[in-house]
Amino acid sequence: MKEIEIKSTLQVYDSFDELPKDIQQLMQKSMAIRDKAYAPYSEFLVGAALLLENGEVVLGNNQENACYPSGLCAERTAIYYAGANYPDVPVLIMALTAKSLKHQLVTPTPPCGACRQSIAEYELKQNKPITIYFMGETGKVVKSSSLSNLLPLIFDNSYL
Ligand code: THU
Repeated sequence: MKEIEIKSTLQVYDSFDELPKDIQQLMQKSMAIRDKAYAPYSEFLVGAALLLENGEVVLGNNQENACYPSGLCAERTAIYYAGANYPDVPVLIMALTAKSLKHQLVTPTPPCGACRQSIAEYELKQNKPITIYFMGETGKVVKSSSLSNLLPLIFDNSYL
């Protein structure tokens, strides 16, 4: 038996104001779409703004359902739209922001496990990293220069 160590390196910005200007603009788009989320059950709103290599920005937010598991997260709403409409255009950057209507969310809110798995598929498909920035409503912003930093031991199509 031997032990292996799995390491991830992330960058942490103190606040939105510390982000580069172009990322601030993308994050503002994420905030705007976040506030249009359909989340009457959780009252937890999530926005995703994706910058594609051709300069297009694709937006998504979470869409809930009375049958809870039928809802979809913001990240997958956005990345599936990008995959459907721009199948050959790499996704370069994802800006994610979450806000609760019940409390002030100041903690950077990462994509859930299911979204990480979905984003991984596209990162592998395009053979180019997707940089992910995520934040709460305010506060620190975390940057991951690849989805793989957030999902060690990815299950991919090599196992099929
Ligand atoms: N949600 C997202 O949109 N993205 C995530 O990565 C985490 C969770 C949504 C799903 C649900 O509508 C609400 O947030 C509460 O879980």
